[in-house]
Amino acid sequence: MPTSCTSHVLVTGGSGFIGSHTVLELINQGHKVVVVDNLSNSCEEPLRRIEKLAGLNEESLPFHNVDLANIDDLRAVFKQYNFSSVIHFAALKAVGESVRVPLAYYRNNITGTLNLMDLMIEFGVKDIVFSSSATVYKSDPDGRPFREDSELGCTSPYGRTKLYMESIIRDVVGAESGWNAIMLRYFNPTGAHESGTMGEDPCQIPNNLMPYVSQVAIGKLDNVHVFGNDYNTRDGTGVRDYIHVMDLAEAHVIALERLTGNHGYEVFNLGSGAGQSVLEMIDAMSIACGHKIPYVVDPRRSGDIDTIVCDPKKANEVLGFKVSRDLTKMCTDLWRWQVANPEGYNQ
Ligand code: NAD
Ligand code: WQD
Repeated sequence: MPTSCTSHVLVTGGSGFIGSHTVLELINQGHKVVVVDNLSNSCEEPLRRIEKLAGLNEESLPFHNVDLANIDDLRAVFKQYNFSSVIHFAALKAVGESVRVPLAYYRNNITGTLNLMDLMIEFGVKDIVFSSSATVYKSDPDGRPFREDSELGCTSPYGRTKLYMESIIRDVVGAESGWNAIMLRYFNPTGAHESGTMGEDPCQIPNNLMPYVSQVAIGKLDNVHVFGNDYNTRDGTGVRDYIHVMDLAEAHVIALERLTGNHGYEVFNLGSGAGQSVLEMIDAMSIACGHKIPYVVDPRRSGDIDTIVCDPKKANEVLGFKVSRDLTKMCTDLWRWQVANPEGYNQ
């Protein structure tokens, strides 16, 4: 019997960038949350900020510093609570690093997911929302918007772990009765909580465009390196579909609530459906911070393609989800976070 009878949502990776914003939104929508994270790419401070923003007592948000690879430690958490559902964010996510150390990615992402699914079966928890990614789609040379039924295929070990994790969950839903699973394929998350107290805090020099641009804007880095200006796009730079992290957080709450409708296994894209180029993102961030952000043009980054945007129709029609925060909001919120937290959570 669990120590706690109250029904909780287990959030793995809940102190990370997207997880922490989602935890705040879940609490604000009345859900009880338990966070599990091994802090390999985060720290506990976001949890303290969530407590403040949600009006909770300090250190009252249940948190367990557990590695999903350790099934006994994770089982102890399952024993303690009565979980109704799981939102599974915990994963390593750097594409380049995954090419250098593929086994670390397979071990962490796949083992963690296998252990989680084993325990969900053991404890009769049958509802899961999973953090998937646009990276699971096979590149389209014509840059057409990806639909959920577009062809799949990955080029990096990271991407393959996401595809395998989706497959593992789909197969469990097929084999067991009463399971519901929603795969959310995010496009390019950015922005920050509008309070300026929560945001993305890359542990190293950022790999992704927007945290890099933001660190140049505040003077921590010298120039943005634009990876190629000879793509087949309106200004020659890569086009991506950026989505505000709070829109993502809201989409997770909607998905979680849909699980109770017994729809089995479902997949949804989360993006705006519109694409912005690298130069357009630099311009938008320059407006948000009030000065020109310097950049230099470098050669293309290996593995990048012209355009990656989603078709958001299925999420609009089935989940009733539509992004509500535009590019200006993404950049002003990102800038507010950057200015208030120049060293991230390590103040
Ligand atoms: P993040 O690194 O900020 O958060 C992931 C969290 O998981 C971190 O706090 C990390 O410490 C934790 N973690 C990793 N391995 C763990 C393990 N074995 N046990 C326990 N905790 C572990 O990343 P994020 O940007 O918040 O991404 C969250 C999820 O969304 C990831 O699964 C990622 O693959 C997916 N995703 C991210 C993006 C993006 O661009 N940020 C895009 C698409 C999908
Ligand atoms: C965006 C654009 C770059 C950095 C990655 C993962 C994907 C998903 C989201 C997790 C591209 C250009 C970038 C820089 C640049 N993550 N760029 N200078 O590559 O679309 O997607 O993050 O699932 O799986 O692949 O995002 O932010 O790295 O790049 O010019 O310093 O910015 O070439 O056109 P990407 P990104």
